[in-house]
This record gives sequence, structure tokens and C-alpha cells, in this order.
Amino acid sequence: MIQPTESQDFKSLLGCFATGVTVATTLDAGGERSGMTASAVAAVSLDPPLLLLCVDRHATFHAAVEAGQGFALNVLASNQERISRIFADSGGDPFAEAEFRNESGGFPLLEGAVAHIVCTLWGSHKAGDHTVFFGTVTGGEVFDRPPLLHYRSQYTTVGSDNRTVI
Ligand SMILES: Cc1cc2nc3c(=O)[nH]c(=O)nc-3n(C[C@H](O)[C@H](O)[C@H](O)COP(=O)(O)O)c2cc1C
Repeated sequence: MIQPTESQDFKSLLGCFATGVTVATTLDAGGERSGMTASAVAAVSLDPPLLLLCVDRHATFHAAVEAGQGFALNVLASNQERISRIFADSGGDPFAEAEFRNESGGFPLLEGAVAHIVCTLWGSHKAGDHTVFFGTVTGGEVFDRPPLLHYRSQYTTVGSDNRTVI
């Protein structure tokens, strides 16, 4: 058995759980755009419609989302690996590297994404070195594109022709 005493061991274990990849975006207290690549996302409740997003307390995005009213999740498409890498890097202006729609007063929405999920902040809970932010889903849109997936530290995708609708 792997004993997850090192964070690398923890990442090796949890990395076996394949996830989608999002760029979470918000507006900070000064109205400036902030964004971060995030895969620690899950559905929480149907009524009310809640999801969760876990954010490292040291991340620049943490202060922005904590001070703001909510956030958007831009679910990345299979051809957006570069954008995932850019929004996972510190420094620079990642928003200069991709095309975003900025609806009035809204959170930045990425062009070419698989989905936009818009949330108002419902609550938060500190958990170790991360904070779990809960969002009430207030709207969203879905586009017919294959998703970007992350599995065992690698990017991958699934085909778009063998889906089951549930
Ligand atoms: C595929 C992938 C998924 C990630 N998921 C998360 C996540 O869910 N939560 C988080 O806090 N950081 C996550 N990160 C790391 C952040 O994107 C990264 O630490 C952050 O953008 C660093 O920016 P900063 O130094 O400007 O704060 C992920 C990175 C990658 C590549």
C-alpha cells in the first residue's frame, strides 16, 4: 500500500481519478479578472444546485474568489491544453493568451470551452491548506465539443462519438 506521507504520493493516488479540467474565473475586489486552472470540482446538491471548487490558500485566485461574489467554471475542450498550462502558471497575464467574453458585470467566459457554469458564492469551508468554495449554479451553457481530461499527470480526451445520454 502507498502511504501518502509525501504530497507526491497523495498526488499519485488521487491522480488515478480522471477529471475534467476547468479554468475558474472571477472578478477580484477591484473588479480585475482572476483565473486559475482547477480540477478539484464536484457536484454537491441538486436542490439547491450546488457545486464545490477547492482552491489552494496560497493561490492568487484564492484572495480574489474570497473577496468576490462568485465564480465561473470554464470547462476546457480537448484542444485547450495550452490554456490549462497557462492558467496553472504563476505570473504574466494569462487573460492576454486566450479569448474571453466579458458580459456586463459577469465573470470571464472562455471562447471554445465545452461549458460555462456560472455560480454565486454560497459558502466556504477551510480544509487543510485549501478552501472549499461552494457555489450556487445560476446559469450555464453547453457546447458540443470533446473535453480535456487529466489522468495520472497527463492530458487526454475521450471520443465524441460514443456518448451515452443520461
Ligand atoms: C490540471 C490541473 C488542475 C489543477 N487543479 C487545481 C485545483 O483544483 N485547485 C487548486 O488550488 N489548484 C489547482 N491546480 C494548480 C493551480 O492551477 C496553480 O497552482 C495556480 O494557478 C498557481 O497560480 P498562482 O501561483 O498565481 O497562485 C491545478 C493545476 C493543473 C495543471
